[in-house]
Amino acid sequence: MKGIILYRSQYGSTEQYARWLAEDMKLPFMELEQAREQDIRPYGFLIIGSNIKVGHIQAAEWIKEHWDWLKEKRLLLFSCSGSYSDAEEQKKVLESSLPPEISGSFRYFPLPGRLNKDELTFWDRVIVFLGSKTVPDEAARKRMKHGFDYVDHEQLGQLKEVVKRFKQVVV
Ligand SMILES: Cc1cc2nc3c(=O)[nH]c(=O)nc-3n(C[C@H](O)[C@H](O)[C@H](O)COP(=O)(O)O)c2cc1C
Repeated sequence: MKGIILYRSQYGSTEQYARWLAEDMKLPFMELEQAREQDIRPYGFLIIGSNIKVGHIQAAEWIKEHWDWLKEKRLLLFSCSGSYSDAEEQKKVLESSLPPEISGSFRYFPLPGRLNKDELTFWDRVIVFLGSKTVPDEAARKRMKHGFDYVDHEQLGQLKEVVKRFKQVVV
């Protein structure tokens, strides 16, 4: 089965994973906003990559908007965030970003992202500053205060195993 990677990234970490995945798995990739139904129709499976902001998967609106034809595909989703290792938090983010009939159709892989405070827009800096004062979890507060870089090629291992299996499916 043929597949394609679509990604949405603001500061580059989700895009970095999309590029690694494309290289390793020999798959095409493109920015989510540029993907049109006619380009995607030939592919049996889609891997959608998205950054997370304020507890929301940023690709969610696009996914909902295109759900009438996306639902025919096999679907994988990966996200980039600071709270990637908190399974409960990730489940909540997925469920609050997408309705159950959509979120339940994806196999989901939360991946570790990057926050470089020097790169942020003014408003993103304000949001991160306010978040660093108000989130209850101390580790999250520290990440927001100082930034972090957890982007790591090795984190794609599990996702690549699933992609390998999808590629072997004969249609
Ligand atoms: C304004 C803003 C809000 C964010 N909100 C969250 C959040 O709610 N939870 C989280 O785990 N990470 C959050 N992050 C961290 C991003 O998910 C992380 O930096 C991610 O790697 C960004 O992806 P990108 O480089 O592809 O844009 C936030 C970052 C910014 C700038």
